[in-house]
Amino acid sequence: MSRLASYSGGGIKRRWTSIVFIFTSVFVVAEILFLGRLDMSKNADLVKQWTTFYFKSISSNSAITEAGDDQECMDYLEKADGLSYSRDFASDYILVDGPDEDWSTCSVGCRFGHMSGRKPDAKFGFSFEEDTSSVLRSMESAQYYSENSIDLARGRGYKVVMTTSLSSDVPVGYFSWAEYDIMAPVMPKTEEALAAAFISNCGARNFRLQALNKLGRLVKIDSYGTCNRNRHGDVDKVEALKRYKFSLAFENSNDEDYVTEKFFQSLVAGCVPIVIGAPNIQDFAPSNASILHIRNLDDIDSVAETMKHLASNPDAFNQTIRWKYEGPSDSFKALVDMAAVHSSCRLCIHLATEINKKEESSSRFHNRPCKCKTVLGTLYHLYVRERGRFKLESIFLRSSDMTIKALESSALSKFKSLNHLPIWKTERPESIRGGDELKVYRIYPVGMTQRQALYTFRFNTDNDLQRYIEKNPCAKFEVIFV
Ligand SMILES: *[C@@H]1O[C@H](CO)[C@@H](O)[C@H](O)[C@H]1NC(C)=O
Ligand SMILES: *[C@@H]1O[C@H](CO)[C@@H](O)[C@H](O)[C@H]1NC(C)=O
Repeated sequence: MSRLASYSGGGIKRRWTSIVFIFTSVFVVAEILFLGRLDMSKNADLVKQWTTFYFKSISSNSAITEAGDDQECMDYLEKADGLSYSRDFASDYILVDGPDEDWSTCSVGCRFGHMSGRKPDAKFGFSFEEDTSSVLRSMESAQYYSENSIDLARGRGYKVVMTTSLSSDVPVGYFSWAEYDIMAPVMPKTEEALAAAFISNCGARNFRLQALNKLGRLVKIDSYGTCNRNRHGDVDKVEALKRYKFSLAFENSNDEDYVTEKFFQSLVAGCVPIVIGAPNIQDFAPSNASILHIRNLDDIDSVAETMKHLASNPDAFNQTIRWKYEGPSDSFKALVDMAAVHSSCRLCIHLATEINKKEESSSRFHNRPCKCKTVLGTLYHLYVRERGRFKLESIFLRSSDMTIKALESSALSKFKSLNHLPIWKTERPESIRGGDELKVYRIYPVGMTQRQALYTFRFNTDNDLQRYIEKNPCAKFEVIFV
């Protein structure tokens, strides 16, 4: 089967293609005759390339199509690879069986609720329907509720896991710009005690109560919670915290990525959080050296020393909360920006992406060319979208410049040409929104977890990227802007 015919599966598209082809052929023949008469050899060459391109692409069934120049090549690939999927989510939206909600702001058709006569794509809790994905959604730590561990959940048949783990399919964190006024101004630290504690479950499964006792013997702590209470507990927590230099953000379990409001409220209040909890808490720090971490009881002596040092050195203390004046790190922004898109919308994007991915295993998609040859080398067709959005945009990489840098700059110029507004633009506090420039923070294959995207995955070398693109024709990437 010919290359062009192989991509025009639908009736309308095939007819359109043939009409364009006939029209172009007539035009090309006419122009050859015309140019031949005028003997404009330069232009004639171009026309020759065009015809060669058309005939090669139609008659050859080789793995790679040849084109005269980049533009031809790109136009051809855009048409040949840009297949439409059988499901149009704009009208045939993703339906999730759950509390009634309209996610009309979501970048993919997305609705929550019950609809008679329509099978949902997914359901919270366990589903016995073949085509309805079971979704586990919980914000509790897997140490307390082992059923929330991703492997256990998968083993029990959950297709989509939504937990605080950044390795889950659709992470649900305690953080967002909307919920916490993270850039709220720092207030004078007027309390005599160094730290405030709001701890009320005195029987947690980690060592936080022993830590509270031990630390309390070394530095003065005001306790507002029921554990070791020495202050009246009926106060506005964040307002109270603002008067302290330190805040004890002691979670009830030490689970990766399990970081709750205790931590984020400390940041709002401009306190240095003293953390017991997620072993990877540094991933959540607003900047380097802005938090203190108690990994085990042995750390308490040195943490107490650091607290005393900072408390008696205003400049050193000010340095640890410098991010409050200068803005948090890109790493922190990229993390919190994830929540600019509601987890329900992110669930819909995840489901729609999976549905399309399934269809991509069909021969129609397998037969896409995904690259073509010009005099300057081979052009590879790739797709890229912003994290939190569904729609993919076309970009191209040349074989002679298949580098991570070229991938980033190609994605960047694509989004610049679209006057793209980052998805977090209206969500972030105004002081850290930046100007109109776009900056790529990470670029990674679609389908990776946020743990991989934000922390663990990198194409280490340009060769890695090349191999990935060769292995995954029409590879799809996601970009995080900061
Ligand atoms: C933060 O620390 C890491 C590792 O210690 C270092 O590579 C990075 O450059 C630091 N970032 C800033 C903004 O100082
Ligand atoms: C802390 O540093 C910021 C600038 O980084 C400055 O504006 C502020 O006045 C300083 N505060 C104190 C108490 O020194």
